[in-house]
Amino acid sequence: MQSIKGKVAIITGASKGIGLATARKLAKEGINLFLISRSEEHLERIAKEISKMEVKAFYSKCDITKPAEVEKAFKSFKANFDCLDILINNAGRGIFNYIQNGSVKEWEEMIDLNFTGLVHLTHLATKIMIPQNRGHIINVSSVAGRVGIPGWSVYCATKWAVVGFSESIRKELLKYNIRVTVIEPGVVHTEWGENMPHEWITQRAQMKALMPEDVAEAIYYALTQPENVSVNEILIRPTEQER
Ligand SMILES: NC(=O)c1ccc[n+]([C@@H]2O[C@H](COP(=O)([O-])OP(=O)(O)OC[C@H]3O[C@@H](n4cnc5c(N)ncnc54)[C@H](OP(=O)(O)O)[C@@H]3O)[C@@H](O)[C@H]2O)c1
Repeated sequence: MQSIKGKVAIITGASKGIGLATARKLAKEGINLFLISRSEEHLERIAKEISKMEVKAFYSKCDITKPAEVEKAFKSFKANFDCLDILINNAGRGIFNYIQNGSVKEWEEMIDLNFTGLVHLTHLATKIMIPQNRGHIINVSSVAGRVGIPGWSVYCATKWAVVGFSESIRKELLKYNIRVTVIEPGVVHTEWGENMPHEWITQRAQMKALMPEDVAEAIYYALTQPENVSVNEILIRPTEQER
């Protein structure tokens, strides 16, 4: 395990769930953070909490589906930090619907956030990481990026896209000493998931699911490997989750 104390990381979707748990874990380990999500109130409170751990913490209110807001967030990042070691593309939404019932609006919301926004953030991060000749990009996909699930077809498609994108950029970026890792959690106890049928909600609530902290530990594991070790993929399920 290699110390990453003092490094600088951007985390998207840092206001709650997996992003928040990862922010807390990394801050505890001495990593300076730039937090992104739409809810300024939450980010302000979390940045305050994290600053007490003797690391720098800044934030930007940003809707990742809006390219102009992403560009603005990066400008703000660059005003506060002069390097970028780690990008954690974690923000994501899942809206349940069978294909015959869905709408263009909900498909666009998932595609623009889970995929296009992640690509945009990665693009901007590489402009900093390539000249540095170092960096680590962590993309949070899902078990849904490995299997198809009825009712989650468009969500699954966005997460499969993240896997394909990550593997391609891993090959593009390795010559710049930039590592790429995909994290693929199964069910995690968070507020994730919209429009879910009652039986899904009950099933998830009854499951001894992963906690956001379990996923944060998997991310930390990938980040702390020696420089010659590139953890490409971590698929992590609750023990009792079959599919
Ligand atoms: N929970 C699970 O079972 C599970 C399983 C596998 C994979 N995942 C993936 O893990 C990631 C994190 O999910 P989670 O479970 O932690 O969900 P969560 O608790 O709902 O958190 C989602 C995060 O994304 C942010 N977000 C949502 N829309 C955004 C937007 N348009 N622009 C910027 N930020 C936005 C939210 O912040 P604001 O609302 O403040 O914007 C929040 O911080 C997602 O990519 C999800 O697909 C989750």
